[in-house]
Amino acid sequence: MKFQNILSETENSITTITINRPSKLNALNRETIQELHDAFEEAENSSDTKVVIITGSGEKAFVAGADISEFADFSVEEGGNLAAKGQELLFDFVANFSKPVIAAVNGFALGGGLELAMAAHFRIASDNAKMGLPEVSLGVIPGYGGTQRLPQLVGKGRAMEMIMTAGMIDANQALQYGLVNHVTTLEELIEFTNKIAGKIMKNSSVAIASAIRAINANFEDGENGFEVEIEEFGNCFGTEDFKEGTQAFLEKRKADFPGR
Ligand code: COA
Repeated sequence: MKFQNILSETENSITTITINRPSKLNALNRETIQELHDAFEEAENSSDTKVVIITGSGEKAFVAGADISEFADFSVEEGGNLAAKGQELLFDFVANFSKPVIAAVNGFALGGGLELAMAAHFRIASDNAKMGLPEVSLGVIPGYGGTQRLPQLVGKGRAMEMIMTAGMIDANQALQYGLVNHVTTLEELIEFTNKIAGKIMKNSSVAIASAIRAINANFEDGENGFEVEIEEFGNCFGTEDFKEGTQAFLEKRKADFPGR
């Protein structure tokens, strides 16, 4: 698929999707959100992809937010639609993706940029990264899931402070908050993220998809996560991966999962 604003390449079963508008610090305009949706959909359907890494091009920004120039004159209705469409096309799509999605945060992750990183299943940051939800400084609030996912990740009080002050935290503070799992140098970020992806890929992709659904159920209204876990756990027993995983253990060899 040909893209204007992003790059997508797959190597060793890892699809790396790079937001590629460095002159606008990779800000998310409508086209970029659509292209990201299309690239994720392609990765979902491709048997070549086992893990997705999302990152930004250049050395300065992961994503500096939603493209402010696009919505500056929006009405109440248009504003609501912008958030609804973005959440559906990209942010919820990524959060509920059946394959692991890792955000490699390589610089500013602000507003929609941090929301995209938070929609990913976990985050690794380079030491130059700066993260924040500055929307209230523009007279608006986070609209791509930020008011929900930030408190889930860092706790209510820290999220309240970050959102109310519109301030940025650096990579080490994000590590301390649990917003990112690891901090590396900028040079090592992708290699380190690939290494973690490599560890993930040794395991059963079917079981990982089940685990993602069960973990996400904890954060969904009206879902009983324990019940989802029981159902997903039971379903695993009907998979070829389970048979291979348990058999390999008993035969004292490494499992070779068929991914079914
Ligand atoms: N939307 C649209 N354009 C953006 C953008 C955004 N969210 N963030 C950066 N850009 C553009 C700038 O307008 C500038 O474009 P120009 O060269 O055509 O004028 C270019 O990216 C470079 O940004 P600049 O502000 O010159 O870089 P800087 O190093 O001085 O500052 C930031 C970096 C991240 C602090 C600053 O760009 C910023 O505050 N961006 C907006 C962050 C934000 O509020 N995001 C939430 C949106 S809801």
